[in-house]
Amino acid sequence: MDYKSQINLDKLPEHIAIIMDGNGRWAKKQSLMRVKGHEKGTKTVREIVEASADLGIKNLTLYAFSTENWNRPKLEVQMLMRLLVSSLKKEIETFQENEIKLSTIGCIENLPKNAQKELKEVMRKTENNKRMTLTLALSYGSREEITQAVKNISKKVKNDLIDSDDIDESTINNHLYTQDLPDVDLMIRTSGEQRISNFLLWQIAYAELYFTEVLWPDFSKNDLFEAIYKYQKRERRFGKTSEQL
Ligand code: FPP
Repeated sequence: MDYKSQINLDKLPEHIAIIMDGNGRWAKKQSLMRVKGHEKGTKTVREIVEASADLGIKNLTLYAFSTENWNRPKLEVQMLMRLLVSSLKKEIETFQENEIKLSTIGCIENLPKNAQKELKEVMRKTENNKRMTLTLALSYGSREEITQAVKNISKKVKNDLIDSDDIDESTINNHLYTQDLPDVDLMIRTSGEQRISNFLLWQIAYAELYFTEVLWPDFSKNDLFEAIYKYQKRERRFGKTSEQL
């Protein structure tokens, strides 16, 4: 089925987050090295970023490297960092053509210096693009993000910049990496795994979760459109009854 034509463009999710999973299994299935899966996965990133911008999605956030991913074999980590740098160099044109603003969340200071430099450069060049914000979660962990937010708020309370009685949800929101992004509407995870793996725990409070068996390197535009189509078929009640909506 061609899902794109079935999508209601007036009801697009404002923010889609994706856990791109299954690169390793994709490679293994065809007796290739894991890195080949990541390479093919990078092509999927490009396709999905372009398709999202083209459809009118305003915010796309991709889980590219978790804090836990540092525990992978050193060579794999190196290859992933290399892929990141080479993709950024290659994709700057795609970002400009599609008016995509690049942003990051996570402990960027833990990345190799050349990756940090490339990211900064692409972020600077694309900062005025308005069509879609692409956020790469790199060395990202949601618990770490929330811990940092608590620490920063505590410091402000200590220095009398915030009254502890005034702390509310927006205070927390404003101290997360995602302070400039709306809540996630749709979270997709590929490869059949059904867990959140420390990704955007606060921000997915009301998100629709969508799990697909498709491995990330095989995830196509039509798979993305299917996820959006199925999201639009769900009833988001935010705690209300159907009748109240
Ligand atoms: C999960 O597959 C994927 C990752 C840990 C990294 C995602 C990276 C890319 C898609 C490529 C580089 C990204 C950018 C933004 C250029 P896995 O290795 O956990 O797969 P497995 O669970 O099958 O082993």
